[in-house]
This record gives sequence, C-alpha cells and structure tokens, in this order.
Amino acid sequence: MASVKMFTGEKIPLEMHKVRIVQKLRLLPIEARLKAITEAGNNTFLLQNCDVFLDMLTDSGVNAMSDNQLASMMTADDAYAGSATFTRLADKLTEIFGTKYFLPAHQGRAAEHILAQAYVTAGSVVPMNFHFTTTKAQITLCGGSVEEVIIDEGLRAKSTCPFKGNTDIAKLRAVIEKNGPKKIPFVRLEAGTNLVGGQPFSLENMKEVRKVCDEYGLMLILDASLLQDNLYFIKTREESCKNKTIREITREIADLSDIIYFSARKLGAARGGGIITNSEKDYRTMRPLIPLFEGFLTYGGMSVREMEAMAVGLEETMDEEVINQGPQFIEYMVNELDRKGIPVVTPPGGLGCHLYATEFISHVPQVQYPAGALAAAMYIAGAVRGMERGTLSEQRNPDGSERLAEIELLRLAMPRRVFTLSQVKYAIDRIAWLYENRALIGGLKFIEEPPVLRFFFGRLAPVSDWQTKLAAKFRADFADSL
Ligand code: F0G
Repeated sequence: MASVKMFTGEKIPLEMHKVRIVQKLRLLPIEARLKAITEAGNNTFLLQNCDVFLDMLTDSGVNAMSDNQLASMMTADDAYAGSATFTRLADKLTEIFGTKYFLPAHQGRAAEHILAQAYVTAGSVVPMNFHFTTTKAQITLCGGSVEEVIIDEGLRAKSTCPFKGNTDIAKLRAVIEKNGPKKIPFVRLEAGTNLVGGQPFSLENMKEVRKVCDEYGLMLILDASLLQDNLYFIKTREESCKNKTIREITREIADLSDIIYFSARKLGAARGGGIITNSEKDYRTMRPLIPLFEGFLTYGGMSVREMEAMAVGLEETMDEEVINQGPQFIEYMVNELDRKGIPVVTPPGGLGCHLYATEFISHVPQVQYPAGALAAAMYIAGAVRGMERGTLSEQRNPDGSERLAEIELLRLAMPRRVFTLSQVKYAIDRIAWLYENRALIGGLKFIEEPPVLRFFFGRLAPVSDWQTKLAAKFRADFADSL
C-alpha cells in the first residue's frame, strides 16, 4: 500500500479527499457542558448533539458519504416490490462477495434478530471470537448463550499483537467438545472486533476456524459490520496477503463463510443492513422472517436511497485509499496518546481510539463504572462525546449481580472521513489535560436502570461532587478558553 512521506519526517494521516459540504459545530463553555451531562444522566447517549463539539460516540450511520453516493440516491427506484434499486444492490453484493442470495434488513441488529430467530433456541450455545452488545441480546432473547473464544492477548489492552480479534482454536474446540455440536447452531466471527477495541482477525486464523467448523459440521457466520477496517489490517499486517488486492481478500473471507451479515451503517457507509449467503436452504429458512419483521423482500425496512448509496459505498470499500483513512487517523491519535504515556488500547485498531479506563482512573472501582465515568469526564473536559464500552454495556447476570466487563474502555470513535487533523489534535489535548487531572475523576451510580441494553437509556449520578471540582479546575487552568 502506497504511503506519503513528509519531508520533515513527521507522520501524519493525509486526507485523500476534500471537504465540499460542512456542518457548523458549536463548543459550549465548561459550565454549560457540566449542566448538559448532568441533564443527560451522565449517559452520553442522552446528550443532545447540538451540545457536542466532536461526536465520537460511534461510526454507525455517521460516516461521511462521497459525492458519488449522494448522486446515486437520486436514481433510487421507489417501488414497494421489485425495485431496480434492490437489483443493483443485490448485484453489487454478488459481485463483491460472490454470494447468490441477499436478504435486506433495516440495520445490523435486525439481521442478528433474523439469524437468532432462525437458528437459536433455548439452550443453544454460540461460540464467537467476542460478543457484541446487540448480538448477545438477540441470542439471549431466544434462550441461547454466548461463549467467547478470543485469544487471551485480545483482552490485554496494551499489546503488540497485530490480530487481537483472533479466535483461540483450542478454546473453540473446548466449547464444542463441552457442549456437543448439536447445541451449537453456528460459530460467529466478528470482523474488526468491536468491544475489544476494533481489533482484527487474520485470514489465516479464519481459515483455522473454518477447518474446525468443517470438522464438526458447524455453520460459520461472519459479522462483517467492521469488515472494511479488518480488510485494511489484513492487507497491511498479514505478510501472506501483502500482494493481494482488497477485493481478493474480501472474496477469500466470503468463501470461508456460510452466512455473512452486516450493519451498512458501518460497512458501505450508508444506513441499513443485510444478510447474504450462497445457501438456498438457509435463504429459504430466513426469508419468511424478512416481511414479518423488516419489510418486503426488496427493501427490508431500508430507504431505497440508502440502498443506492450502500451499493456505491460497498464498491468504494474495495478502494484501499478510501478504507485506509479511518485506521490511519486512529493510528495517529493512539500513537500520540501512547507517546504521552496515556493508557490506550494498542496496537491501534479500527473504529476508534480506545482509552483504557481501568488504568486511566485506576482509583475508580469497577462497580462504579470507570469507563462510564471517563465518558462523562471527557465530555466535561472537551465536549467530546465518546461511548462507554465496559461494565455499563454488560447485561446483569441472571441472578441480578453485576457482570464486570473483561475490559473497561472509553471508545472515541472515528467516523470515517468526518474529522480533520486539527480536531483530532484538540481531542488529544483535552485527553492529556484530563489525564493530568485524573485524580479528580470519581465514579458513577445508577439512578435509573433499564432491564435490557441499559447503557442506551440508563441514568446515572456521580458518587460525589467530583464533576463540579473537575469543571472548576478546567476554568482555573484554561481561563476564558472554551
Ligand atoms: N455488529 C457489530 C460488530 C457492530 O459494531 C454493530 C453496531 C452491530 C452488529 C449492530 O448494527 O447498529 O446497525 O444495528 N455497532 C454500533 C456501534 C452500534 O456504535 O459500534 P446496527
């Protein structure tokens, strides 16, 4: 992959695009930020976007779209049934992934819902490199459970392992042996493993997983939502793939999967989702569920405009210069923070930069949600909105006790091609200030806790007046600066 070197030797990610439409941002003063996060119950999901300067909550549905994507939206064929847009998107999926059948769904979790309804029953066990919140919720809703078989290194925040999303083959075998293949409806692999910091798996490792699945006659399902970052890492980190094109790697991955599903809010830079497969049998198993839960078979709950944009976005995903932008900006941010001694997940992954909350504020006990506390503190410090990825994002154990997350992270997502380098530098600066003042950060406690996916709507309060003190310190240090 070609890279641009600077004469000065400085390493910066270079934008391979130019900005042609912009959205004005506002940066509230610290006092207003404190008020906003308090009103939001210390839950960054409940903040109003107009109160946010850098929205690093997610890369879902907020990636910058290209001129060609926008243009394609004008050609959408708005028919309930038999839309030409559907055919264009289905053909593009076939061209890229080599799969015959496409079932549209309105987003990634809707695809997960269809898969769980079709294959998971009470007592099912689904091994996977790592769970994603919505995946696990859909599986448990059907009475199944999840077994994580990621390599140990995947859960170590600081590492040099290039493929922390890899499956531990021995762990996978052990889960299958322990439960018996009959209880296992499928094995799930997540590309760009979200909850451990956007970390990829290698093609080599996926081949080994496939072998085990073949040995036991198990179906392999790929969650390709974050495939674009994973493709970039396979291309740049896996020696045996250096000379393969992104298209070739994509095809190899697809050939190893029985079913692929994706959130097109990430993959394809639009808003939607879908399930693709070459198996007529599986297609027929799932097909009746689409009109029932999503919409007719040729739109599946999606706007046809988004479907047109998705087809173009998928094609653009095959372009290295498009998909390298996210990982390169993330690498810059992670390396700058790491250089300052600030605890971040390494090596840099896709999706975003992940602050390692456990170490960042090691004095905050895990039952007081350190990653959630850091998310609130980050908003106070810079109006930067991140997402808690730790104990708050977990479901309680069946007996009601807290399930402590394996890893407490504050995710600062990098929506693709959205932020400039100076905005990233601003975020780094405010994180550095926060790290300097980390002793001031305290924990959080629930004041309103929903029973399912509690991190979306739950409301929390600080365990002390730490937030007022943090805001006062900011005012003292930055004088009249925003
Ligand atoms: N799988 C993965 C790996 C995801 O990251 C997501 C969404 C989904 C499935 C569900 O897709 O949102 O379209 O329903 N991740 C978003 C995020 C929510 O912010 O990381 P969805």
